[in-house]
Amino acid sequence: MKVRLEAVRRTYGTVTALDDVTATFDAGTLTAIMGPSGSGKSTLLHCAAGLDRPTGGTVVIDGTDLGSLSEHGLTVLRRERIGFVFQAFNLVSALTAEQNVALPLRLAGRPAAPELVRGALARVGLADRAHHRPNGLSGGEQQRVAIARALITRPAVVFADEPTGQLDTQTSRQVLGMLRALVDDHGQTMIMVTHDPVTASCADRVIFLEDGRVVDELTAPLTAEAVAARMAAAC
Ligand SMILES: Nc1ncnc2c1ncn2[C@@H]1O[C@H](COP(=O)(O)OP(=O)(O)OP(=O)(O)O)[C@@H](O)[C@H]1O
Ligand SMILES: [Mg+2]
Repeated sequence: MKVRLEAVRRTYGTVTALDDVTATFDAGTLTAIMGPSGSGKSTLLHCAAGLDRPTGGTVVIDGTDLGSLSEHGLTVLRRERIGFVFQAFNLVSALTAEQNVALPLRLAGRPAAPELVRGALARVGLADRAHHRPNGLSGGEQQRVAIARALITRPAVVFADEPTGQLDTQTSRQVLGMLRALVDDHGQTMIMVTHDPVTASCADRVIFLEDGRVVDELTAPLTAEAVAARMAAAC
């Protein structure tokens, strides 16, 4: 088990974004998180990834209780054990693909060996784009650079918030196939938020949130039709 959430709560003033969420994410699995806008998906991801502190409950990653860590300890854990892929690629426009990928290592004061950086780019099929800046790359290529950057520290778990949200259908399928391959071929643990039933159907499990609560889950074998039917049932 890589990630465990136990009765995780997050309130913002009078708004309860997460209402006692308990969930386990096993190593080497891909989990999709779905639910209506405002149901708490991003909040769950941010709390699970140590980007936000829950108001209550515990998050354990790889045996470490995030609540027991100081701010510094949390920063170090995030840098070294967690990868995060955002919907908007969040690349630094002045840096090349290679420099963007090397950034987490530099921030951690670790050597960014060229072969390591090249290897991460090669794993996302971008070995020949190392010297391009983001504005010289397609949307799918930029997202793949962002994924390579999330993987460079060999994180225990990768969190992705709508990683294909800004991509056209074909590019989104390519990026998704790549994420799936990272789970299947490299045993990567991955948790991703998506609105798309086809994307969700590539996961091993889909968790449905409503009003900050887990209301249902589907497990593989999944079809886009079954996921869409469950989404429709919620309306
Ligand atoms: N920083 C914040 N301050 C106040 N309220 C917040 C904050 N972040 C989230 N919320 C509220 O918490 C609830 C859950 O938000 P969250 O962003 O997790 O939803 P979501 O499921 O990711 O939605 P979407 O699909 O639109 O991205 C919403 O009611 C939102 O308004
Ligand atoms: Mg969100």
